[in-house]
Amino acid sequence: LLDDATGEISSANDIAILNQIRVKYLGKKGVITLMMKKLKELPKEERPKFGAVVNEVRNKLEELLSEKLEELKQKEKVERYEKIRVDVSLPGAKRDKGHLHILTKIQRELEDIFISMGFEVVEGPEVEDTWHNFDALNTPEWHPARDTQDSFYFDENTLLRTHTSPIQIRTMLEKKPPLAIISPGRVFRRDYDSTHLPMFTQMEGLYVDKDVTVRHLKYTLEEMARKIFGESAKVRLKPSYFPFTEPSYEVDVWFNGSWLEILGAGMVDPNVFKNVGYDPEEWSGFAFGLGLERIAMVKYGIRDIRDFVRNDVRFLENY
Ligand code: PHE
Repeated sequence: LLDDATGEISSANDIAILNQIRVKYLGKKGVITLMMKKLKELPKEERPKFGAVVNEVRNKLEELLSEKLEELKQKEKVERYEKIRVDVSLPGAKRDKGHLHILTKIQRELEDIFISMGFEVVEGPEVEDTWHNFDALNTPEWHPARDTQDSFYFDENTLLRTHTSPIQIRTMLEKKPPLAIISPGRVFRRDYDSTHLPMFTQMEGLYVDKDVTVRHLKYTLEEMARKIFGESAKVRLKPSYFPFTEPSYEVDVWFNGSWLEILGAGMVDPNVFKNVGYDPEEWSGFAFGLGLERIAMVKYGIRDIRDFVRNDVRFLENY
């Protein structure tokens, strides 16, 4: 009996099993308890001897059980600590990290390209007066672009700029030529569909020096196109009209197998030079204007311009 019990106790591997063993031998109906009860049935002279043996066995079992209980308690404690142990050498939990908006990236990319060609970045106010936004740019009162339907006016003489060209006027009024600037910024027009936003982002360039020709303009735009769209990008100029340039061009870029119209450009109109006090006989220059959203749409095949302002991370994450 003692051997059986000893074997059972030593193979018990948790406290619940050990308790079952205790009940089996020492409980109210346990083996040992029953033996003690049998004592009465024995002949008188055998009782002391039998009683002593059963007692000894019971003491031994109690000893074994409490030793084992200690051992198991210790084991459970170790296991519990093992479970909550912190491995300080593990890498931390990965967090979602934000990044620059696609338009900010395109803007910086273009700024770097033009800076590398010697242009300077200049900014200006979003709320403009009609003189800087239109008159100085040779856009007379009767011009359709001045229509209240197309622009956001605060009053007769104040509006949200419709392009970043007024920055060129402000710069020329402040500085003497020669100069080379680009002016990025938000512009505002009453337009809204899959290719137009009432607020979009432009970058305009202005270069003023002696003997500037269309050839300089075309080279500058080719250089930009190659850096943005890859070495195989080509540029072509088509005749167009802007009040502030003469001649004026619409500019196409050859990209992914087709000609895509991406910007407007031209040679600065002599009237614009007169308006800022430059002598058109002495100075000449080119100007161009591009939409950052348009560039990004062409480069990445984005079809809806409204995606830029929806702030849907599923869109933003792609760029
Ligand atoms: N300012 C023109 C626009 O917003 C773009 C442009 C700039 C065209 C410079 C020619 C020269 O449409």
